[in-house]
Parts: sequence; structure tokens; C-alpha cells
Amino acid sequence: MSADVLLGLQWGDEGKGKIVDVLTPKYDIIARFQGGPNAGHTLEFNGIKHVLHTIPSGIFHDTNINVVGNGVVIDPVIFKKEIDALKQMGVDVKNKLLISKRAHLILPTHRLLDAASEAAKGKDKIGSTLKGIGPAYMDKTGRNGLRVGDISSTAFKQKYDALVAKHRQLLAFHNFEYNLSELEPAFFEGIEVLKQLEHIDSELYINNALRSGKKVLAEGAQGSLLDIDFGTYPFVTSSNTVTAGACTGLGVAPNRIGNVIGIFKAYCTRVGSGPFPTELDNAVGEKIRMVGREFGATTGRPRRCGWLDLPALNYAIMINGVTELMMMKADILSEFDEISICTHYKYKGETIDYLPYDIIDNDVEPVYTKLKGWKCDLTKMENVDQLPAELKEYIRYIEKQTGVPISIVSLGPDRKQTIFMEPALVK
Ligand code: GDP
Ligand code: IMO
Ligand code: MG
Repeated sequence: MSADVLLGLQWGDEGKGKIVDVLTPKYDIIARFQGGPNAGHTLEFNGIKHVLHTIPSGIFHDTNINVVGNGVVIDPVIFKKEIDALKQMGVDVKNKLLISKRAHLILPTHRLLDAASEAAKGKDKIGSTLKGIGPAYMDKTGRNGLRVGDISSTAFKQKYDALVAKHRQLLAFHNFEYNLSELEPAFFEGIEVLKQLEHIDSELYINNALRSGKKVLAEGAQGSLLDIDFGTYPFVTSSNTVTAGACTGLGVAPNRIGNVIGIFKAYCTRVGSGPFPTELDNAVGEKIRMVGREFGATTGRPRRCGWLDLPALNYAIMINGVTELMMMKADILSEFDEISICTHYKYKGETIDYLPYDIIDNDVEPVYTKLKGWKCDLTKMENVDQLPAELKEYIRYIEKQTGVPISIVSLGPDRKQTIFMEPALVK
């Protein structure tokens, strides 16, 4: 078998959590491959809304194993809170959550360093979630990091103290005030919770599972335009959020990747700083934000909103090798008489259809096509036949412009508000 990959094609928050939950019954294993608690993946079913940060979004199903892969960075404090919240809902993770020994740990000082770095950047700040993601990945690539496998070693505290000593020097350099003794007890409580779970060589586990015919879905976090290499650098996260990140973040070889499922919103959002060509800094953007409840699942910050951006979407489809698309939050656009889609940019006097390298320093001006809105409530529709002609036209237009079929259209946050499209409507 090969592993399928599901990831976001925009700036995160596309609705990955919802779709992983919907697709989980088709798979045996759901495996997160990168990112950490900067992610907030929302699931809704039976009137319950739940947000996951580190734990894969297959956790609410009883027949699946969920794996936190080596590419993930884990904050034991947030991880413990996630486990406690699941317990309260009657979900026992014990036999269905496995953690890679190679996953790196986020220390309290990583969070402090994140805050110090953002404060030092002033108005040029990234708009980080301040979860310590950047500093933790810096220690990983700098070969200083602590991993889940280290916590069962008798030398763990010694290794922890050595790394914290380094961090203290950096914090002093930033003149950053902090009280570490207030933060450490929760960290070590989280470590105890982590210790109780099974730590595995997830690359062996997943490859053995694939060899024995098991179905694996790799769950991405963030979005392709936040990728450390291909995103709008430096306004990005610190990991590879694209399909290649599933190879390195789980130890799955490129030739064992099967379907690549690309999730996108019917419009665009971004939280944090950085370029956003189709951003609507006006009443239309405000309307999308209010109707779409576009406020961060992790930080509560208002998300910036704008129209769908095809050059950016096509770029993400190319980098990821997307084989099928899923379009989310179509219901939010029901408000509009006309819907704009960006097809090109005007850039340095030319019309282009790609994301230029220096988008940070040179604005691109979006060129739009307008499509007729459907102006009706979609949220109770249950099959393709019920969809209004204007929405079908919107779907067909995107399929034509991307060359990739849309296999799911989502019409609401609940599991059930999901329309499975007939294969390749585009043809
Ligand atoms: P993720 O990070 O990609 O998992 O996405 P988030 O959970 O951060 O943000 C997506 C938000 O949209 C969540 O509040 C979801 O409950 C919600 N959502 C997902 N799909 C739909 C949809 O089709 N319609 C509406 N109205 N909300 C949706
Ligand atoms: P999910 O998985 C949306 C953004 C932050 C900031 C930048 C860097 O829920 O889609 P970081 O904390 O990584 O240093 O922040 O990336 N960001 C996200 N935006 N969804 C996410 O995750 C995000 N994770 C990070 O807002 O702009
Ligand atoms: Mg999110």
C-alpha cells in the first residue's frame, strides 16, 4: 500500500481537521507529520466542537491508530491538556495514540525565546502563535534538541538543564524578563503524561503497516504558503508543510506516497503577518470574517480574509503534486451576489500567473474574474443534485483552472455537512 497525504494549500486553517475526521473510517492509521501546537484542527459532530493541536484528527474513531510522527514538535504542557480534554469527553487515547521517539520536545524556554524573538522584530514580527515552534525546530536543525526518546533516559534532566542553560544565554542577550520556575512544573507534569504513552520507531511502524496492506493517511498542519521553503518567507512557519514533509516527517519514501489530498477554502484567509495578494481590507473582508467565524482556533486572533487566489493555489498544487482537491466553507459565500476569483497578478507592469519570489517587497495586484453567487442556504444540502447551478459552475471553474478534480465540497463545520462529488465533475 501507499500512504495518502492530506494537507492545506493556503495559509492554514483550511478545514484539515474536519476532513481528516470525515475520511478516518477509510484508513487504519492517521499520522501527523510536522508542526506542533501552532496548529488548531477543529472537528464537529453530534453537536460537539473540539480543537486538536498535536494529536491527529482521527482520535475520535475507535478503530484507528493515531501516530505523532518524528517531524512533529511536542509541547508536553499542551499535550497533557489535550489528553485531559479528550478524557473528559470519554476518549481514552491509551491504546490508539503512538508517539515517535524521534519527535522533538518544545521546552518552556522555547516559548520564551519565541516571544523574545518576536518582541525584538517589532513591527516586522512574523505574527507567530508563540508556541515555541521556531526555536524548537532551530534546536532540531542545530542538533541541540531533546526528543521524546530522551525522556526515558536517566540523563534526561541533565540534558534538559544543559539546553536550558543555552537558552538562558540567548534570553539574556534579548534582555528578556521571565520566571522559568513558574513554567517548569507544568512541563514536567506533561513529561510524566508523555511517559505513559507508547513511544515507537514510527518510521518502522508505518512502513511495516504499509507492507502488510494497512491504509495510512498523513495529516499535515499549517498550509503550503506557510512552508519554510516555498511559503512567503520569512512570514512562514519553521517546517516543511508540503507533501515532501510527509516523507521526512514520517519516514515514508516518495515512491510510497499515493493520493495527495489538497484542502482549500472557497476563499482565502491568513492569520499573522505577511503578503496576502487578495486580502480584502474592507467591508467585504469583514463580512467573510463574521459569517465565516474567521478567528484563530489556537490564538483567537481575527483571520485576514480575501477572495480565492488561483495563482497561489496552482503553485501549491504543483509543489505538492495534488491529485484531488476538497473545497471547504462554500456555505460562507452564500451571502454574495457576485464572487471574485483571482486568476492573475499585475506585477512590475506585466500580467503573471505565478507567485513571484519578491512578493514581500513588491506588491502584486490581483486580476479578478467574477462569477455569479448562488445566494441560498447550502448547509442542509445532502447530495450533489441539490447544489445550485452557480455553485456547480464555481466548482467547475476551479477544476478547469487547476486541472484537478474536486472530490469533496464542505457546506458546514459538522462531519455530516460534507458532499462527496461524483468523480471528476470537470470531465
Ligand atoms: P484546520 O486548521 O485546517 O483544521 O482548520 P481550523 O479548524 O483551524 O479552521 C477551520 C474552521 O472552519 C473551523 O472552525 C471548522 O469548524 C470550520 N469549518 C470547516 N469546514 C467548514 C465548512 O465547510 N463550513 C463552515 N461554515 N465551517 C467549516
Ligand atoms: P493549522 O494547522 C494558520 C501561522 C502563524 C504565523 C506563522 C508562524 O491550524 O492550519 P509559528 O507559530 O509557526 O511560528 O507561526 O504561521 N500559523 C498558522 N496559521 N493555521 C495554522 O495551523 C498555523 N500555524 C502557524 O499565525 O503567521
Ligand atoms: Mg487551524
